[in-house]
Amino acid sequence: MAKADIFTGDFQDSQLSNAEIINRRRVINGFDDGLMQVSPLKHPWAYEIFNTMIQNTWVPQEIPMQQDVSMWEDPNGLTETEKNVYERSLAFVSNLDGLQTNNLACNIIRHITSPEIVLAIARQTYEEALHVQSYATLVEALALDPERVYGLYRTDQDLYEKNKSVLESVNKIASPTFETGTFETDQMFLEACIGNVILEGIYFYSAFLIFYVLRRNGKMAGSAEMIQFINRDEDNHLKLFIHISNTIKAEQPELWTADFQELILENIRNAVDMEYQWGASCVGEGMLGLTKGNLRQYLEFVGDMRCLALGLPKQYNAENPFPWIDEFTQGAMIEVNFFEGTVREYQSGTLEW
Ligand SMILES: [Fe+2]
Ligand SMILES: [Fe+2]
Repeated sequence: MAKADIFTGDFQDSQLSNAEIINRRRVINGFDDGLMQVSPLKHPWAYEIFNTMIQNTWVPQEIPMQQDVSMWEDPNGLTETEKNVYERSLAFVSNLDGLQTNNLACNIIRHITSPEIVLAIARQTYEEALHVQSYATLVEALALDPERVYGLYRTDQDLYEKNKSVLESVNKIASPTFETGTFETDQMFLEACIGNVILEGIYFYSAFLIFYVLRRNGKMAGSAEMIQFINRDEDNHLKLFIHISNTIKAEQPELWTADFQELILENIRNAVDMEYQWGASCVGEGMLGLTKGNLRQYLEFVGDMRCLALGLPKQYNAENPFPWIDEFTQGAMIEVNFFEGTVREYQSGTLEW
């Protein structure tokens, strides 16, 4: 039953108890009166992620940028290549967060029939908007030319193709007439959820890497701190969509056919290839130890982790060429099994995660 249907007829004395309503709850295609009853819960992991997100509340204005401003203006601060890579990475993550804000609000949330998952996605949507604001904060602080950041996709074919490809996968379920409830559309929705795992867990991670490489070399510390806050949020978004995908699989196991698994693996391999092409166009002949070769290896390592998290076999068996990245992500990179994650202490406005 769709959310709206329950209040369309005349009043009839209660036919369903709360327990029955919750027992009929599913990620998609469940019974949902649309009134967001979140106690008790059917999908407690979503509520836990929602609570963690709230504890992680931060704002970009908190992050000191003066050091970055001085370094950006200093002729000996960053090389031209480094500045170029910085701006391209910023353009890319800004485009990604922008389209993800719209994707969650317009394409994903309306099909979810579990209120606790709706809560978490609503919070995620806010966080993506906060990330859009964070990149604007960087553009303003460094007095970057908005044309070179927001306008880059109009002049740079690599970025245009990349955005086009991300949007094509997102737009498969974007039609206002798209509805879940058939084998075919439920598979499409599951593919879109795994598309979110790819977006949150492969595309963003390569751009973050570039900011961490700069930071590790003593450059743009404020920007890297901002990215760490964003990365902490994205880590929760990744967990959320891995749980959503795996729970749809558990609730509707008929969707997870051998052909469909092959399609998902192909999507992941394509994402790794596409991300490599983009990253290679950014790093060119190399920057501060980051080369096309170790970038490729890193993306393969990240791709393998996403496969494992979805219950699929590794495709590359790649080792992480940047184990130091753990300093910045504090374990998020190596956490393969999200169902057995260790408990960490969270606190608002700090990076203890
Ligand atoms: Fe984001
Ligand atoms: Fe995200």
